[in-house]
Amino acid sequence: MSITEGNVTVIDHPLIQHKLTIMRNKETSIAGFRRLLREIAHLMCYEVTRDLELEMIPIETPMSEMNSPAIKGKKLVFASILRAGNGLLDGMLDLVPAARVAHIGIYRDHETLEPVEYYFKAPSALEDRLIIVVDPMLATGNSATAAIEKLKERGANNIRFLCLLAAPEGIENFNKAHPDVPVFTASIDSHLNEKGYIVPGLGDAGDRMYGTR
Ligand code: URA
Repeated sequence: MSITEGNVTVIDHPLIQHKLTIMRNKETSIAGFRRLLREIAHLMCYEVTRDLELEMIPIETPMSEMNSPAIKGKKLVFASILRAGNGLLDGMLDLVPAARVAHIGIYRDHETLEPVEYYFKAPSALEDRLIIVVDPMLATGNSATAAIEKLKERGANNIRFLCLLAAPEGIENFNKAHPDVPVFTASIDSHLNEKGYIVPGLGDAGDRMYGTR
């Protein structure tokens, strides 16, 4: 169940929306938050991969030979924007255990406000793979935009972006930079506050996942 407008799809399945409400609640425990993020990742992964191309491959069942459908092409890549992306990544890997994984570390320089890449490790042949970039929060859109620039510089040309919550400001910035990259989210919230947090949001996803502050 989802609603698509332009290149943004809101996955509004009741289970996702219910679990998201519990995640937003500030009383939810760290363990609960982490488990719910993983569960929502399962449900969102199902939607974001629903149009993957299949090919028929020959196999033998205990009864007979047959041609059976399998996902076509090179293995997918899940690209996690550190560190909160790892919460979604775990759930995605539960559903697609053979996926390859990229990790992208980006921080914002306080002086220049430019995104700085401090870590990048990705599988080979990015140009031949579907890459699903994951980060729970699309806030200003700057990290996601920069991460996708880095992937494109290394040859990626078939990219989707998956987040849990998005701010309208983030979507606008992201779409300007990467109109070719579809965005999947569970909710578009009201706005960003002056510190760049999504409102009403759920707070700092990394802190709530890892018990830091
Ligand atoms: N990152 C978060 O973890 N939360 C926000 O609200 C915005 C960015």
